[in-house]
Amino acid sequence: MLLKNTNLIKRMFITLEGIEGSGKSTLIKNLNNYLSNLDIDVLFTREPGATNTGKNIRNLLLSPDTDLSSEAELLLIMADRVEHIKNIITPNLNLNKLVVSDRYIDSTIAYQGGGRKINVKLIKSLIKSLKMPVPDLTFLIDVTVETGLSRAKDRAELDRFEVEEMDFHERVRRAYLKIAEQEPERVIKINGNQDEVAVFNDVKHFLEMKLTDNE
Ligand code: TYD
Repeated sequence: MLLKNTNLIKRMFITLEGIEGSGKSTLIKNLNNYLSNLDIDVLFTREPGATNTGKNIRNLLLSPDTDLSSEAELLLIMADRVEHIKNIITPNLNLNKLVVSDRYIDSTIAYQGGGRKINVKLIKSLIKSLKMPVPDLTFLIDVTVETGLSRAKDRAELDRFEVEEMDFHERVRRAYLKIAEQEPERVIKINGNQDEVAVFNDVKHFLEMKLTDNE
């Protein structure tokens, strides 16, 4: 459907979200192949840890040895994001690029709000006060916790979030689903229990609609 000559919107901020093992990495690989064939300047980035300072924050956050209160965890994630926005997201959007981030503000609402039970109003007010840009489009790759965790466990060592109990991950998933319900215009829920081709085709369908929507 999408042709190179179509008048494509380029400056756009897209985020990918989901619980552990939801298949975001595979989707990113497929998106990268697809977008590199189109005349679109795209930048893939991720949270936490996209900047130099962020890499240190990421190590701290993911190491199972780190002893951290939920509130300190939230503030470290926000610090990582402030650096990410300032050094990567905003400059690249200003260059009229399509910026795709693997995780962003919805991860904080789902993990720190749902998972860690921090007041979501507090998280949202921080996001707002810090003037964090709202994505144009967000894909929530939804899988059951059983599926997600069994995929994650097949990979390398488990990080500080992956070792959390099932209930934590169930709360994260529920918080994500609530965001998708509350913001259906921005957040598109994709069935991540399907095979990777079907997941990619679903995402591509919505992406093409958005990219060609010049209104
Ligand atoms: P990563 O290895 O990038 O996980 P994944 O492949 O699942 O994206 O680790 C990122 C971890 O950080 C992930 O478990 C979720 C967590 N996280 C939060 O808890 N809150 C946030 O706001 C962000 C961005 C990430």
